[in-house]
Amino acid sequence: MISFWKKNLVLLVGLSVGALVLAAAVAFVLPGPTGTTVGGSASGVAAIGGPFRLTTHDGTALTDAELRGKPFAVFFGFTHCPDVCPTTLFDITELLRELGPEANRLQVLFVSVDPARDTPELLRAYLSSFDPRITGLTGSEEEIAAAAKAYRAFHRKVPTEGGSYVMEHTATVYLMDRSGRFFSALDYHEGREAKLAKLKRLLRAG
Ligand code: NI
Repeated sequence: MISFWKKNLVLLVGLSVGALVLAAAVAFVLPGPTGTTVGGSASGVAAIGGPFRLTTHDGTALTDAELRGKPFAVFFGFTHCPDVCPTTLFDITELLRELGPEANRLQVLFVSVDPARDTPELLRAYLSSFDPRITGLTGSEEEIAAAAKAYRAFHRKVPTEGGSYVMEHTATVYLMDRSGRFFSALDYHEGREAKLAKLKRLLRAG
């Protein structure tokens, strides 16, 4: 089992990087909403982000429109994730602690790509081990597919031995400004200081 997860983790991380590169490439060639071409090094990822409607771990509805006015961080995962998600959630918990009260303006969203298992109740129980400023989100398959598409986030169900499954998914944490525009991203393999610096920049910007 251990070697299986190791292999799977390598696969996951590889896919995450691949998905981000693909997302950047797609964003580069897609025209912007106004018809102007989105391209170049600065705006090549401008197509990340967009409308969503999901359900929080408290059972209330949340849309992207309600997030306007405050910066937020969003990433995709699932509570049965063996490694990447708990590591990311632990990382973010530590980063929020280091940022202190300044981080109260930052909303962190953990969107489940496994709605069949991740009910609001399970998300709430799972997230109680992490910073309370992290909000778990779930929804119907369609709602989650729409949110993942908006963020160019990849996810896929992979059967495992014993009749269960894992979800492969993009590990990137997307940092969005107070207008809901893509600001930057935290890479899974980045060091703590680099991540902290990006979050500080995001908070300073909005
Ligand atoms: Ni995960």
